[in-house]
Amino acid sequence: MKLSLILLAGLCALAISSPVEQHKVKVDKEYITKQKHVLELFEHINQPSHHAEHVEIAKSYHFEDHVDKYTKPEVVKHFMQHWKYGMLPRGEIFSIMYHDHMEEAIALFELFYYAKDYDTFYKTAVWARQNVNEGMFLYAYSVAMVHRPDTYGIILPPIYEIYPHYFFSTETIHQAYTYKQRHHGEENHQEHQEHEDYDYTIYSNYSGHYLNLHPEQSMSYFLEDVGLNAFYYYYNLYYPFWMDGKEYKLEHDKRGEQFYYMHQQLLARYYLERLSNGFGEIPYFNWEVPFETAYVPSLQYPNGLEFPSRPKFANLFEYFYNYGQSWTTKDKYGYSPTFVKDCERRINDAIDFGYVFTHDGKKIDIFSEDGMNILGNLIEGNPDSPHQKFYKGIWYYARHLLGYAYQPLDKHHVAPSALEHFETSLRDPAFFQLYKKIILKFYRYKMHLPPYTEKDLVFQGVKVVNVEFDRLVTFFEKFSSDITNAVYFSHEELQKNKHPHFRTIQYRLNHQPFNYKITVKSEKATKAVVKIFLGPKHDEYGRHINMSENRMNMVQFDHFTYDLKAGENVITRKSQQNYFYGPDRTSYHDMYKKIMGAKNGDEYQVDGRENYFYFPQRYMLPKGTPDGMTYQFYVMVYEYEPFHKQEEHPEQHFNYPMVGTGGQYIDGYSLGYPFDRHIKYEHMWEHIPNSYFYETKIYHKHSEEDHIHHHVHHDEHHH
Ligand SMILES: *[C@@H]1O[C@H](CO)[C@@H](O)[C@H](O)[C@H]1NC(C)=O
Ligand SMILES: *[C@@H]1O[C@H](CO)[C@@H](O)[C@H](O)[C@H]1NC(C)=O
Repeated sequence: MKLSLILLAGLCALAISSPVEQHKVKVDKEYITKQKHVLELFEHINQPSHHAEHVEIAKSYHFEDHVDKYTKPEVVKHFMQHWKYGMLPRGEIFSIMYHDHMEEAIALFELFYYAKDYDTFYKTAVWARQNVNEGMFLYAYSVAMVHRPDTYGIILPPIYEIYPHYFFSTETIHQAYTYKQRHHGEENHQEHQEHEDYDYTIYSNYSGHYLNLHPEQSMSYFLEDVGLNAFYYYYNLYYPFWMDGKEYKLEHDKRGEQFYYMHQQLLARYYLERLSNGFGEIPYFNWEVPFETAYVPSLQYPNGLEFPSRPKFANLFEYFYNYGQSWTTKDKYGYSPTFVKDCERRINDAIDFGYVFTHDGKKIDIFSEDGMNILGNLIEGNPDSPHQKFYKGIWYYARHLLGYAYQPLDKHHVAPSALEHFETSLRDPAFFQLYKKIILKFYRYKMHLPPYTEKDLVFQGVKVVNVEFDRLVTFFEKFSSDITNAVYFSHEELQKNKHPHFRTIQYRLNHQPFNYKITVKSEKATKAVVKIFLGPKHDEYGRHINMSENRMNMVQFDHFTYDLKAGENVITRKSQQNYFYGPDRTSYHDMYKKIMGAKNGDEYQVDGRENYFYFPQRYMLPKGTPDGMTYQFYVMVYEYEPFHKQEEHPEQHFNYPMVGTGGQYIDGYSLGYPFDRHIKYEHMWEHIPNSYFYETKIYHKHSEEDHIHHHVHHDEHHH
């Protein structure tokens, strides 16, 4: 991957005309077959499969007769035990954040993961598709897909089209149901070839369209963006919190530090968007004080149950939030406030002491080279934590608490809140308030580290002499998603593919493509790293933000290696080729057409960046304002140092990092460098010649689409 990056950087300098093509890879018949399997398995996931092949395999395949086909035969036994004593039935709501569900999902995942060859994996998956709870199947199968080496490069279709109920409001889904009921039995649905062939288009609105809600929900275009929520979901498929890093080879990936950085960057990015909307800091809360921010999800589960909502000034004490429910001996989640406060105390103590304890009482120094990663594992509470039982996972209990979900009556009847699914977490503003609290722990740790000095940051002989960006313009655009999966069809309708197809259209933030140019003078030829951040200049009241604080608001914008030659170097980049952000996933509809139409021996190209968990490219810039909102870029060119844990992996040819190889690391510096540590002298930044602050404005092009924004609901787009 590093190689391709360097290549890419080199090509950019030559101003290649279609950089996106760089990411495409030719695929063969085997690839096409596997991709086809995914599409068929995910089709109408809430209903039993109608494919004859599936029905046949599900009936005839008994994995207990093929124990030798699994690398670890004990996983078959383990799963059989769960199966025999009763797993979550089909049709019930699945959430990985309920312990019993998690155990069952892991057992299923292990079955998938340890299947010796692709064929065994596929048959096991088909069996599970028909027999196991659909949410659990979808989750365990997707995790296996991104972790098995033989499915590297196979694209998971967009989750918002597979599970529309978790991404589109109740009104939207209901309109699709209504259409289906009204047109029941009509046979004039066409062969669905083109977008124009959708039978029904629903203009979907963000929450707050009907309900007069909390001011924070006016940012629902951001919080409910399907691409953004999908990004967070996919990240959690690659790094599941329950996954043992040793067993599943995540050790090269510094997952603990990544847990920190992922969430820290999400907060920083949200803060930028808040500023554009006239909001300021993400609010801080105390567990003891009623939680101010209300939340009404406007989402419904496929079985009709509504997502729980949280009242304003929600009281978080056990007595209040469990009031009227039967819970004291039933469910440990009822004790979340106590657990959360235990965790918090223990984490704070560990940070200030500088060491943590393992389960057998051994001390581990957290101010060592790997300290940040250890702390990240500890706070996430994943199996790589030094002592999972003691330090727990604060976010896990906090999500139960803040989501204000009901305590389950039994393990098969849970009604999780939006915070208890990765697909819907970002929709609730409480998510950001919670993770702010968690990220502050990491800052507390970082404050114990020495600040960077001028000597640490200066790259001798290298000077950034100029930075230029094109005019930056954001706008709202229409985006179409296929939500046919939300509707139920008869077996006959499915088999004949004679049923209505539905899509929704939503307005989403995007920006015009732009170029940027960095001019660097170097005394000698040397390999360097270029890193760019985007951050605010002023707070919501127009006050200058001191760099010592502002460093926490800097969003990583671009990051690549570059071979500097002696003299002047002009580095040109295009927004579309930025490796840090990814394109939209191809819609299910288009992918299906492409794959099902592929004949034996056909070759076509795949953009690997659709996979993985790239932040959506559309969100490179926060929304601007009509007169321009001031932001600043920070460019730093520093000495290249390789990421020491990186393994060379010959198969990484799909242009996205294979999980577990450390392939996502461009250099060996800590994540967030150079803003990850505190800065003693604010003016020091002006004395780093290999860095450059570039102030600019981001404009927003007003269009009729803006009616979705800021409570202005005119019916403009009807004429
Ligand atoms: C969204 O709002 C528009 C304009 O008010 C309306 O026509 C449309 O039906 C709404 N969509 C849904 C799903 O309610
Ligand atoms: C910037 O803020 C930090 C932290 O609040 C403070 O210690 C420092 O004195 C401030 N610098 C200036 C120039 O105001």
